[in-house]
Amino acid sequence: MSLRRYSVVFALVLLPLVLAALAVGGVLFLRQGGLAPYRIPQGSTRVVASDAATIARGEYIARIGNCVTCHTTRGGAPFAGGRAFATGYGTIYSSNLTPDANTGLGDWSADEFAHTMRNGVSRHGVLYPVFPYANFALLADADLDALYAYLHTLPATAATPPPNRLDFPASWRTALIGWRMLYYRPLVAAPSSDRGRYLVDGLAHCAMCHSTRGARGSLPQQGYLAGGRIPGMGWYAPPLDSQQLRRYSVEELAAYLRTGTSSVGTAYGPMAEVVYGSLQALSDDDAMAIARYLKRVPPQAAGTSLLAQAEIIPVRDSGSGSGAEIYKRACTDCHGADGEGVDNKYPPLRDAVSVTAPDPINAVRMVLYGALAASTAGNPQPYSMPPYVQHLSSAEIAAVVNYMRGTWGGQRAPLAAADVEAMYGIVID
Ligand code: HEC
Ligand code: HEC
Ligand code: HEC
Repeated sequence: MSLRRYSVVFALVLLPLVLAALAVGGVLFLRQGGLAPYRIPQGSTRVVASDAATIARGEYIARIGNCVTCHTTRGGAPFAGGRAFATGYGTIYSSNLTPDANTGLGDWSADEFAHTMRNGVSRHGVLYPVFPYANFALLADADLDALYAYLHTLPATAATPPPNRLDFPASWRTALIGWRMLYYRPLVAAPSSDRGRYLVDGLAHCAMCHSTRGARGSLPQQGYLAGGRIPGMGWYAPPLDSQQLRRYSVEELAAYLRTGTSSVGTAYGPMAEVVYGSLQALSDDDAMAIARYLKRVPPQAAGTSLLAQAEIIPVRDSGSGSGAEIYKRACTDCHGADGEGVDNKYPPLRDAVSVTAPDPINAVRMVLYGALAASTAGNPQPYSMPPYVQHLSSAEIAAVVNYMRGTWGGQRAPLAAADVEAMYGIVID
């Protein structure tokens, strides 16, 4: 081909393609905030109030934002970071939030801190979305300043988290700009009068667990609070909406959040950790505001989970060692013959999260390993669910789970012993 023919092909075919790609890239870049998120404020000297009331307020915000649970490693100083998070692309360690000048936030200005909380970009580069910055972006200026003031009253601890262990290209922080272009859309703030929504969407970041994550850990785009399997945790979180929560009155729901228990349901697994580390500190007003808001959320299309679309076959459950018999022998004493439970001691199984969920993982894990609910001021001596891994075979566990889910949850996709065994591998934490 002659040079002329090449330039004609370029002008007619390639040039429009290149221009279109640039235009799409430009739009995606602007939709994730343009350049602004990557400009860290430099040299700001704005001083924030640090009186006792502001610090107390900051402590409360830190508690409800649950910073300490993610930013503390087992046996480490509180807020000094180093906790490991398993993701689909490797392991990420949390940062040191204590005011140590070299390894923590000691020499950060209030503006730099607010910028990082809102944009997920720090002096160390673009941050991984395990850090719930998409939610913290909604925090009010005064709340961020109080949080900053409180963090600066902590004892300074020198601690550097271990280096992340990530696959390429996820290991390259700058590649996260591409990820953000594809998946990150800043949330729209609630009207400031809606305290419940402010807490749920912003500070308390409930959607981190209660929404299905899309490809490559993308933030939930659709299916607001629609529930799903929590990546890296091996637990299913139910939807949070008026339909799912119809079993609770507003008062019962508020009490569940603060105590981890109620006559309707008990928190276990990661939810027990959230109640223990964070929600038990909620003020009466804030607990009621969250409960009122959640009872108004309209139901969404269900989240997808690995087994949610399992083929629907009627439960085969008869003969010796049937699920009904195992239940009667091992479970009735606590959960009652009809799965009715015992008020505030043993949760009902009728309509329970693990029994109605499209994903059976919570039910299997509970029977395998048991659980202890969070010990809180409102429920200082929680009752525990014993583990059955030593007492029942995988086939028996499958049978009793099928029985519960078929009888009280309307779930007709039965598990086999092999499904139970496969879940040993899913359990990560
Ligand atoms: C779900 C877990 C989780 C919660 C909750 C959480 N963080 Fe983090 N945070 C992380 C992880 C993980 C990182 C490290 C991300 C990275 O290295 O890309 C991080 C990073 C940060 C950074 C950046 C530090 C630096 O040196 O770059 C700041 C600031 C921060 N978090 C503040 C907070 C505050 C304040 C709260 C509570 C309001 C909080 N985080 C709650 C997991 C969490
Ligand atoms: C770390 C993950 C995680 C976070 C964050 C989280 N949850 Fe949960 N939540 C779960 C899991 C898993 C379950 C299912 C197990 C259970 O019922 O205890 C659950 C269960 C619940 C239930 C019981 C629902 C029912 O039908 O009985 C409520 C209510 C709830 N969460 C509310 C919240 C609210 C409100 C927030 C934010 C303030 C929140 N959760 C944050 C993981 C989480
Ligand atoms: C000694 C009393 C006791 C016995 C016996 C017992 N459980 Fe439990 N069970 C509990 C308690 C307490 C909880 C709540 C634990 C928590 O919140 O951490 C629970 C929770 C559960 C849950 C989760 C319910 C939800 O809200 O999603 C399931 C499923 C369950 N049990 C099934 C069984 C099965 C099946 C058996 C028999 C094989 C059994 N339990 C035997 C006390 C018991």
